[in-house]
Amino acid sequence: MPSLKKLIAGNWKMNGSLESNAALIQSILDGDLRADACEVAICVPSVYLHQIQSLTEGKGLYLGAQDVSAHEKGAYTGEVSVSMLKEFGASFVIVGHSERRQFHHESDQLVAIKAERALASGLTPIVCVGETMQERESGATEVIVKRQLAAVIHLVGHCVTEIVVAYEPVWAIGTGLTATPDQAQSVHAVLRAQLKAAAGEGGEKIRILYGGSMNASNAKSLLSQPDIDGGLIGGAALKAADFLSIIASA
Ligand code: 13P
Repeated sequence: MPSLKKLIAGNWKMNGSLESNAALIQSILDGDLRADACEVAICVPSVYLHQIQSLTEGKGLYLGAQDVSAHEKGAYTGEVSVSMLKEFGASFVIVGHSERRQFHHESDQLVAIKAERALASGLTPIVCVGETMQERESGATEVIVKRQLAAVIHLVGHCVTEIVVAYEPVWAIGTGLTATPDQAQSVHAVLRAQLKAAAGEGGEKIRILYGGSMNASNAKSLLSQPDIDGGLIGGAALKAADFLSIIASA
């Protein structure tokens, strides 16, 4: 396995304010981002991209958004386009987060179109996949995550080497329940095999992040698994000390 830099990405979700963002960013920048070993990104609410862009410019912290429109531009009230995100310094965009799939009824197909739209403009999509507890208990984990990823592979073709995948078991998000390193690794291995079937050896270089209650105490054991190439972190990314400690584990 070629050594890839780990990607540690924070997903702030719908949290923050001008004041608290400034304080959080300052504390993160005061810490060690370990640029030798990993890349660090934060995916913030789109309205704050401008603020965070000006606070982080040239400081080795990548910026991302949490969603993007499937359309290029035009009469889509409330939507934000890929080119707008890029103008405000985003390098990444999360697509298909389970909260979007669940609360906004986003289909595999829509998620794939968003991923394709991002790639076409040079923004890296972080494509989220993951099963619910009910799906896990019925033995459907593999089928579900493969179906979700297949929709994206089908649409983006050979550009799949440019995406980042995040395995986020829905039952582990915000619940304090974490997949064990073995549970996570076994799903990551399935995703890796699927990516290699699509992209050949290029599939080894696609980063597969784990997300779901990753924190300062479980990050090291998760990140040491062979197919876990980083983390997508919710709650713990809102506390500089916790986020920095996850970065230190990478
Ligand atoms: P938590 O780390 O809060 O469980 O959230 C994970 C997540 O959904 C990141 O996208």
